[in-house]
Amino acid sequence: MIPTIVYYLVPTIVILITVRKYRESKWGKCKNNVKLTGKIVIVTGANSGIGYEISKELCKRGALVVMACRDKQKALTAIHKIQQELSTKNLVFMELNLASLSSIKAFADNFKSKFDKIDILVNNAGVSFDDSSNKVTEDGFEIHFGVNHLGHFFLTNLLLDKFVSGSRIIIVSSLLHQKGKIDFDNLNLEKPNEAKNLYANSKLANMYFCKELAKKVYKKGIKVYAVCPGWVLTNLFRNHTRRMLMYFIIIIPAAFLFMRSPKQGAQTPIFCATDPSIENESGCFYRDCRKFTSKVQKCDAISHELWSVSEKMLNDKGISLNSS
Ligand SMILES: NC(=O)c1ccc[n+]([C@@H]2O[C@H](COP(=O)([O-])OP(=O)(O)OC[C@H]3O[C@@H](n4cnc5c(N)ncnc54)[C@H](OP(=O)(O)O)[C@@H]3O)[C@@H](O)[C@H]2O)c1
Ligand SMILES: *[C@@H]1O[C@H](CO)[C@@H](O)[C@H](O)[C@H]1NC(C)=O
Repeated sequence: MIPTIVYYLVPTIVILITVRKYRESKWGKCKNNVKLTGKIVIVTGANSGIGYEISKELCKRGALVVMACRDKQKALTAIHKIQQELSTKNLVFMELNLASLSSIKAFADNFKSKFDKIDILVNNAGVSFDDSSNKVTEDGFEIHFGVNHLGHFFLTNLLLDKFVSGSRIIIVSSLLHQKGKIDFDNLNLEKPNEAKNLYANSKLANMYFCKELAKKVYKKGIKVYAVCPGWVLTNLFRNHTRRMLMYFIIIIPAAFLFMRSPKQGAQTPIFCATDPSIENESGCFYRDCRKFTSKVQKCDAISHELWSVSEKMLNDKGISLNSS
C-alpha cells in the first residue's frame, strides 16, 4: 500500500525541481574557455560567496589571483580550500580592509612592491546592513558608501598606473541600484533621518563610477564593466539581525526556487573578466552574461560630480589622488 501523501508529495517535488531547472536555464553561464596563464588578478572580498567562486575559476584558468581580504584567517582557509581542489599554488593573500583608507593605501603599496601589472581587478567586496545601523568606516564614512563605493574608488585609483592595455576592471553592482538615489546633500548621511536604501544607493554609485572610470581610462585601452550577479545565497545578508528570523522562515524555501548558488552568481563577473566578444563594450552593465539596460538613465553630470565629490572626500582626509 502506498500512503496517500506520496501522491501529493511526488508531483510537488517534481514541479519544484522543474521550476528550479527552468529558472536555472535562464541564468547566464560563462561559456568561453579563455585561458589566463601569466595574468595577474585582484579580487576583493575573495574569501566568501561570489568572490570566492570568481577567484577559484580565474585561478583554474591559470591566473595568479591576489585574494584581497580583511580577515587573514578566513582568506587562508579559502586559499587552502581552493588549493586542495585545484592543486595550484597561484593564490596569494594580501590584507585589504576597504573600511580603512590607510589599509587601502598599504594594500596598494604592498601590491606594487610585488607585482608590476594588473590584468583583471574585480571590485567584489560589499556589505549590507539595516538602514538604521548607523555604521561608519574607520574614517567616518557611512558604511555602504564607504566600503562599497569610496573604498573601491580609492583602491582603483591607487592601482590605475598598473593596468595595461586590455586590462579589465569588473565592478560588482546589483540590480537593486535601480532603487537607489545619489543625493549629493546626503551622501555621507548628513541627514540621518532620511537614511533610505543605503545599500541600493551604494550600488547605484558603483554604476556611475563604472561610467566615469570607463571614460577616463578609454585611451589607455582599459575596459570597465559593471555587473549584477543575480540573487545569490551568500553571507551578504547576515548583518540584518532583525530580519534573521524571516530569513530562515522565508528565504531558505524561496532560495530553493529563486536564489543562485555562489558559483552561478559568479558567472557574469567571470564572463565580463574574460570574454573577448565584449572588448568594445567598456562602461556597460551586464547581467546573465549579456548586456542589461538599466531603468536608470545614464547621466554624465551625475557620474562626473560623484567622481569629483569622492575625490574631494579623500582630499579632506589629506589624500591627493594625482600625487599618490
Ligand atoms: N548575494 C546577492 O544576492 C548579491 C546580489 C547583488 C549583488 N551582490 C554583490 O556581490 C558582492 C559579493 O557579495 P556576496 O553576496 O558574495 O557576499 P559575502 O559572501 O558576504 O561576501 C562579501 C565579501 O566582502 C568582504 N568584505 C566586507 N567588508 C569588507 C571590508 N571592509 N574590507 C574588505 N572586504 C570586505 C567580506 O569579507 P568578510 O568575510 O571578512 O566579511 C566577503 O569576503 C557584493 O558587492 C554584493 O553587493 C550580491
Ligand atoms: C573592437 O574594435 C576594434 C577596432 O575597431 C576591432 O578591430 C575589433 O574587431 C572589435 N572587437 C569586437 C569583438 O567587435
